[in-house]
Amino acid sequence: MSKGPVLIIGGSSDIGLAVARRFAQDGHPIQLAARRPDELAPEQQDIALRYGVEVSLHPFDALDCQSHEAFVAGLPDLPEIAVCSVGLLGDQSQDERDWKAAWLVMSSNYVGPANILGILANRFAARGSGTIVGISSVAGERGRASNYIYGSAKAGFTAFLSGLRNRLASKGVHVLTVLPGFVDTKMTKDLQLPGALTASSADVANAIAQGVSRRRNVIYVRSVWMLIMAIIRNIPEFVFKRLSI
Ligand SMILES: NC(=O)c1ccc[n+]([C@@H]2O[C@H](COP(=O)([O-])OP(=O)(O)OC[C@H]3O[C@@H](n4cnc5c(N)ncnc54)[C@H](OP(=O)(O)O)[C@@H]3O)[C@@H](O)[C@H]2O)c1
Repeated sequence: MSKGPVLIIGGSSDIGLAVARRFAQDGHPIQLAARRPDELAPEQQDIALRYGVEVSLHPFDALDCQSHEAFVAGLPDLPEIAVCSVGLLGDQSQDERDWKAAWLVMSSNYVGPANILGILANRFAARGSGTIVGISSVAGERGRASNYIYGSAKAGFTAFLSGLRNRLASKGVHVLTVLPGFVDTKMTKDLQLPGALTASSADVANAIAQGVSRRRNVIYVRSVWMLIMAIIRNIPEFVFKRLSI
C-alpha cells in the first residue's frame, strides 16, 4: 500500500530535514514548507534521489496566520502526518528590553505553530485520520530566568497540543508532543551543550518515527530529560526563585 505524504512545517530546520529524511526512508512522499522554499532545492533533489519518493516545496510563513487556510488548501494532497518544527530561540536579555523581539519569539513558538496545526487538525478530523507532531521543548515545563520568554511560548504550545490530543482522540487523529532536550542544530550552535544531554537531529527524527508508529502521546528524546524535568518541576518555588538557572 502506498504511504501518505508527510508535511514538514519549518522544512528548513535541521530537525525538520532529519525528520523528512527519516520518513522518506520509509517510503513517504515529503512536503517541505518553509519561508524560502527555493533554498531547499538541493535537499529536495537529494531526498528524492536517495529514497525514491516525491518531494515538493511550499512557501509558508508561520507568522502570516491569514495565509494558513490557503496554504493547506494549496497542498497537492492532505498529508497523513504533519510535523511542526518551526521555532525561534531568540535572546532572552534582548527580549527583556525589546518587546518586538519578545513578540517575535512568542509568536514564532506559539501563535504561528498553533494556528497552522489547528487548521490541519480540523481537516484531519473531517477525514477521520492523521497524525500531528508538535516539536515543543522541556523549556516549557517551568519558567526559568535564563529563557522564560521562549519557555513560556513553548509551554503554551505544549498545552495547545495536549488540548488538541484530548479533543481529537475520538476522531481518529493522533497528536504527538516532542520534548527534545538539547539538540545539536543551527539553533544551538552558539551554546556550549553538555554532550551526555545532547541529541542529534537524527536521534530526534528516529524518536519521532517511533513515537508516531507507537501512537505515543508525549516523548522525551533522551529519557534522562524526563528525570531532570521531574526534579526541576518539583523544586519548591521559594527555593527555585533563589536559584540561578
Ligand atoms: N535545538 C534544540 O536544542 C531544540 C531543543 C528543543 C526544541 N527545539 C525545537 O525544535 C524545532 C526545530 O529547531 P532546530 O533545532 O531544528 O532549529 P532550526 O534549524 O533553527 O529550525 C528552526 C526553524 O524554524 C523556522 N522558522 C522560524 N520562524 C519561522 C516562520 N515565521 N515561518 C516559517 N518558519 C519559521 C526556521 O526557518 P528559517 O530557515 O526561515 O529561519 C527554521 O527552519 C524548534 O521548534 C525548536 O524550538 C530545538
